[in-house]
Amino acid sequence: MPHSSSKNLKGKSMQIGLACDHGGFDLKEELKPFLKSLGFEPMDMGTFNEDSVDYPDFGVLVAEKVSRRELEKGILICGTGIGMSMVANKFPRVRAALANDLYSSRCSREHNDANILIIGGRIVGKGLAKEIVRVWLETPFAGGRHKKRLEKIEALERERFK
Ligand code: RB5
Repeated sequence: MPHSSSKNLKGKSMQIGLACDHGGFDLKEELKPFLKSLGFEPMDMGTFNEDSVDYPDFGVLVAEKVSRRELEKGILICGTGIGMSMVANKFPRVRAALANDLYSSRCSREHNDANILIIGGRIVGKGLAKEIVRVWLETPFAGGRHKKRLEKIEALERERFK
């Protein structure tokens, strides 16, 4: 059954940017059919095998597209999720959340309106990772008091990191 938030306003499947390093390759491959089964269209930006690579080279591919609003959402995976988090959050307008559990996943959408989900491929099993992704994709931003906090982050980007 396609996911209720998987279509954009024109009824097309929402594209989800997807990238990993060697530490996240297995999980990325598992998530591709899972995202399709939910009605999303994964845009796979690599890496494409288990050879050792540098996570910044792949993190930027998704983070840049989200930052430029060419993609609404993305998912990044490395061994711990930490390196990808550091890379993704360098980009303006990116709110990347490392969520290796369901509570963080839900709160990262509800409170932080996260637009990139990061998972540690060596931390989380595949079953849990899929649930983390499902929860992340189905949870809306709660707005309200959380909105003003995000506006403060946007102000920081504008004023301090021009
Ligand atoms: C690669 O060995 C590992 O350092 C990387 O996947 C990630 O965990 C970095 O934060």
